[in-house]
Amino acid sequence: MASITIRNLDEAAKQALRERAARNGRSMEEEARVLLGAAAGVAPVMDAGPTTLAAADYPARGKRVLLIISGGIAAYKSLDLIRRLRERGVGVRAVMTAAAQRFVTPLAVGAIAGGEVFTDLFDRAAEHDIGHIRLAREADLVVVAPATADLIARMAHGLADDLATAILLATARPVLVAPAMNPAMWRHPATRRNVATLERDGVRLVGPATGEMAESGEAGTGRMAEPLDIVAAVGALLGSAPGPLAGLSAVVTSGPTHEPIDPVRYIANRSSGRQGHAIAAALAAAGARVTLVAGPVTLADPAGVATVHVETARQMQAAVEAALPVDIAVMVAAVADWRTQAEAGQKIKKAAGEGPPVLALTENPDILRSVGHHARRPRLVIGFAAETEQLAAHARAKLKRKGADWIVANDVSPQTGIMGGTRNRVHLVTATGVEDWPEMDKHDVARALIARIASHFGRTVPEARPGA
Ligand code: C5P
Repeated sequence: MASITIRNLDEAAKQALRERAARNGRSMEEEARVLLGAAAGVAPVMDAGPTTLAAADYPARGKRVLLIISGGIAAYKSLDLIRRLRERGVGVRAVMTAAAQRFVTPLAVGAIAGGEVFTDLFDRAAEHDIGHIRLAREADLVVVAPATADLIARMAHGLADDLATAILLATARPVLVAPAMNPAMWRHPATRRNVATLERDGVRLVGPATGEMAESGEAGTGRMAEPLDIVAAVGALLGSAPGPLAGLSAVVTSGPTHEPIDPVRYIANRSSGRQGHAIAAALAAAGARVTLVAGPVTLADPAGVATVHVETARQMQAAVEAALPVDIAVMVAAVADWRTQAEAGQKIKKAAGEGPPVLALTENPDILRSVGHHARRPRLVIGFAAETEQLAAHARAKLKRKGADWIVANDVSPQTGIMGGTRNRVHLVTATGVEDWPEMDKHDVARALIARIASHFGRTVPEARPGA
């Protein structure tokens, strides 16, 4: 078989190869092998960025990300995101919408991504060469950053009228979305609906963050998550390295419970399950084996988690009992304190002349308390306390009464918007004191709690968020 010697290539080819190899942190021979593989159709050219020592243990090293950039002012941060991903050995291929190209140029994105940038669904050359279906398939993860309100709306409705949306509709890969928009647009009921649809479809979100906006004098929730937060979310989604909680098991309760009154009516509460589901997902991403016992919620089951669906407190208790023994219990569910003494077999009728029926209530089992005092008590038992007043005092009392090690206390007064919302401001109450955490997205609260759990078990979490 003929062999090619790099030394014998012409000078211009040698120089180009030398530059590519240096850019990608490969030897010239390795670089030639990658290029030949791509030319033969064996493997796509996806340049991995040079690996820095600090990033050597990044869990998504060697994976491929398809980055879709849509048209928001935060598009400039995508350049940094590409750089950070490539530094960690992640191959990045970039797609830009027409609006994105008004904020940053394909030339700049291509230079940093180390390859061609795809922009047009009807580009015959590109479609012949690679096509939107191949773009959708040849990645381990699709990341949309920034994701504008418009792109989120088009995703939620399954439109496919440009390259970005066609890829998003065609891909079977996980999709991570980093929303970026004005706070009024983020709060708008249409965006709320669209984001909820995407979450139900299994799309993951990172951010948006709260703070100053690009427009002067504007502040609120809508800033794109910082590139390093997106990098951490990519690592958590694609990570194959053993996480800091590898070898540990956990049970998490989440959501409300529904306590039947009769076949059509029930007692419920406003819990969305967002915080409990985020904790289950973060525990799994950190390598723990997780059973999630979920009350009735509209959220998708988190990836990599064994989810048991229940309706009532008694079913929830039975499912938690069945999950024991575990190392960690995190009881986040807003379990109904009371249920009706007897569920009516038939729908209770309104009878003329008779007043409303009297519902006799009885107490539900306290699941946290039974876990906290269990013969097979987990090594770490964490409860939540949703209070509307005297937060810390109530949480401290709860710690003792329930036999918990930690209580995560939050203020659920209606004006906070925490119950059913996406953000949370919590206080971690332990035997030794109270820590006040800043207001964060519920996913960030989950990640910060996981960092604390890891250090409790003597493990460390790389890139744990500061201040939490
Ligand atoms: O007593 P309170 O409802 O405020 O306690 C809240 C904590 O106890 C949460 O961790 C919740 O999941 C848990 N809990 C439970 N079973 C109940 C009531 C609360 O596990 N019946």
